[in-house]
Amino acid sequence: MFITIEGIDGSGKSTQADHLANWLSAVSDEKVIRTFEPGGWNGGKTLRKFILETKNLCTMSEFLLFMADRAEHLHRVIIPELLAGNHVVCERWNESTLAYQCGGHGMDYDFAEKVIASCSFPEPDVKIFLDIPPAIAFSRMKSRENLDDKHKRDRFEAEGLVFLEKVSSFYHRLIAKNPDKFIMIDCGERQEHEIAGEIMRKLGVELSDEPNSD
Ligand SMILES: Nc1ncnc2c1ncn2[C@@H]1O[C@H](COP(=O)(O)OP(=O)(O)OP(=O)(O)O)[C@@H](O)[C@H]1O
Ligand SMILES: [Mg+2]
Repeated sequence: MFITIEGIDGSGKSTQADHLANWLSAVSDEKVIRTFEPGGWNGGKTLRKFILETKNLCTMSEFLLFMADRAEHLHRVIIPELLAGNHVVCERWNESTLAYQCGGHGMDYDFAEKVIASCSFPEPDVKIFLDIPPAIAFSRMKSRENLDDKHKRDRFEAEGLVFLEKVSSFYHRLIAKNPDKFIMIDCGERQEHEIAGEIMRKLGVELSDEPNSD
């Protein structure tokens, strides 16, 4: 299975990807690969740093760099792992591009959608959306950045609360268009274990509904 986790910065994607990968490893015989965008492939660190740290990139370059990153990630990691019969849990995928570049940075949605479709980036089997008020995610980011250098805000995170609100409302528009395609998780003020429990329950139901499960 190819599972993606979406949500604004600080919504808890990495935290929940850990829980989900641990749970999936425990309940299935297949290996679970935990990956992320941008840069989740061998050599992707350089591109990640470039995308997240270069100042004044125009939105078109930003978009195309994310596309290039996704293509490498797909061909070097995701496709081989799925073909080997493993599960892949990935933080961010096509919806991040639409929410950040279109919702956050004003790129034309029809154009972005067409390019994504032309690149044949596959639809995940399951898409999880972590729904959180932007103000809560923003305050988590602010407290996290004081910890150490590793948690310094990147270029997107540094754009502030208004940007996060734009991205969040675009995610909601995308989900409203196709609500059945997402597992929506209300993350409000809830503890991470409670959220993880809900993801496992909902994913378990989804799997038992799959046709052909034998
Ligand atoms: N349910 C929760 N309640 C309180 N804090 C949480 C919860 N889940 C995660 N956190 C904390 O919030 C911060 C952001 O979480 P995390 O790094 O998992 O988010 P993220 O969506 O991966 O962020 P980014 O997009 O920046 O990578 C972390 O410091 C994490 O420990
Ligand atoms: Mg993360």
